[in-house]
Amino acid sequence: MSFYITTPIYYVNAQPHLGHAYSTIAADVLARHMRQRGEDVFFMTGTDEHGEPVADAAHAQGLEPQQLADRNAERFKALMPRLAISNDFFIRTSDPQHKRRVQEVLQRVHDNGHTYKGMYEGWYCPKCADFKVENEILEGNRCPIHEIPLTREQEENWFFRLSSFQQPLEQLYDERPEFVMPSHHFNEARSFIAQGLQDVSLTRARLHWGVEVPWDPGHVFYVWFDALLNYYTGLGYARDGEDLTSRFWPATYHVIGKDILKFHAVFWPALLQAAGLAIPHHVFVHGFLLGADGRKMSKSLGNVLDPFEVMEQYGTDALRFYLMRDVAFGGDGAVSMEAVKGRYETELANEYGNLASRTIAMVLRYRDGRIPAAGTDPQLAGEFEALPGRVAQLLGEAEATQALELIWQRVRRLNRYVEERAPWQLARDPDQASQLDQTLASLAEGIRALSVLLTAYMPDATARLLEALGSPATDYDAGRFAAQGSGARVQPLAALFPKHGS
Ligand code: ME8
Ligand code: MG
Repeated sequence: MSFYITTPIYYVNAQPHLGHAYSTIAADVLARHMRQRGEDVFFMTGTDEHGEPVADAAHAQGLEPQQLADRNAERFKALMPRLAISNDFFIRTSDPQHKRRVQEVLQRVHDNGHTYKGMYEGWYCPKCADFKVENEILEGNRCPIHEIPLTREQEENWFFRLSSFQQPLEQLYDERPEFVMPSHHFNEARSFIAQGLQDVSLTRARLHWGVEVPWDPGHVFYVWFDALLNYYTGLGYARDGEDLTSRFWPATYHVIGKDILKFHAVFWPALLQAAGLAIPHHVFVHGFLLGADGRKMSKSLGNVLDPFEVMEQYGTDALRFYLMRDVAFGGDGAVSMEAVKGRYETELANEYGNLASRTIAMVLRYRDGRIPAAGTDPQLAGEFEALPGRVAQLLGEAEATQALELIWQRVRRLNRYVEERAPWQLARDPDQASQLDQTLASLAEGIRALSVLLTAYMPDATARLLEALGSPATDYDAGRFAAQGSGARVQPLAALFPKHGS
């Protein structure tokens, strides 16, 4: 089955930060998981380069918008391999290929009668590049996201008849309770619709940094319409000489933060219907990463966790693991270097890393480096049996934290198993040889199977461990706990998550 997953495209007005890393890592976990299951996966991320936020930031630095976009897009691009992101394409909205396709689609929306010219007046947040409707505005006419004062703006714009999609959107939400997940965000979007939709500006007359409106060349498209369409346009030109649209559209999952829910859950499905295009299957919404003090991370509060610093100290896998584990996916959560250290030492170094090195060391010492091809412990096997199915189900519902928790319960189970069976004692008694075979076969099989399931979260450490266990296969079927030890030869393994002095 084809499976198309996207991240938001990030504004190039500033450098990448942990929030961008978070969404991208979450999407990458899902993409890798689906590839393991043999799905035909396409995974896209990229940068949103038009609109006021970028134009304003460029001018403040004495640059042309394209110069700032080029500079920061490179930084976002370079972040991807650092985070072990397996994206199949990186889209930039200043690419002429994207712009041409945006014009085609929106011309069709215009030709289909979903636009009109009118005067717009309203409260506008230049940071969101968004006209706010009454029920979103904070006291004192402030932005609900940035908390800065909104500006009163008036201009002649082309409008998109969002209001005429009231009924089709209500129907969409009636028919597809899994369109937005988790469900509290579904309810939030639905009640936004139920309060009554107002038409929205489709173009900006005053701004020049954007995609030109083909039927009214003095205007550019409002950046959000240009940006949302990236999910569609990218498929048209990501591969030279090949159009992937029919293979991958509609998208399977859009992963987004809750700050941009309205655009993805309301504007986007309406726009697609106006253009006669199919609506994606799911929008997966996650919460905000907060500073250790529980407030929104911000440089001025000094509570920012820098992804590069975490990776320098603990590595890429540890950052990925930490974010998926410590912040329940879908909710808000505080993050800090202290908490990274705690998870790293307790869970990665002690529980997983140690289990791996002990198991391999015992196979080397007691069985000359070969995992016994003996039967594994049927009771332990029973405790693992439903795991791959449950993990797959949870990841299909964007429950990346719960899925990881289920896997981690088995990591802990194996640690208890070592203590229960005390292989070092079995090794002293030749009469217990078959017990020792079963114990070592079960432990090696357990960490092997778990490492296959953990591949999506921690691609590097799991690959090294699977290699050392002589069973590098990572297809999802390999995540099943086998009835028999593999008989493979193990290799000595350097600590997966070394403890450092600090
Ligand atoms: O909104 N916690 O771009 P953007 C969690 N270009 N996630 C966070 C976060 C935080 N503190 N801060 C940012 C835009 N994010 C538009 C999107 S899509 C067609 C256009 C993540 O650079 C989260 O995914 O402001 C959020 O939705 C996104 O970055 C916003 O990135
Ligand atoms: Mg933002």
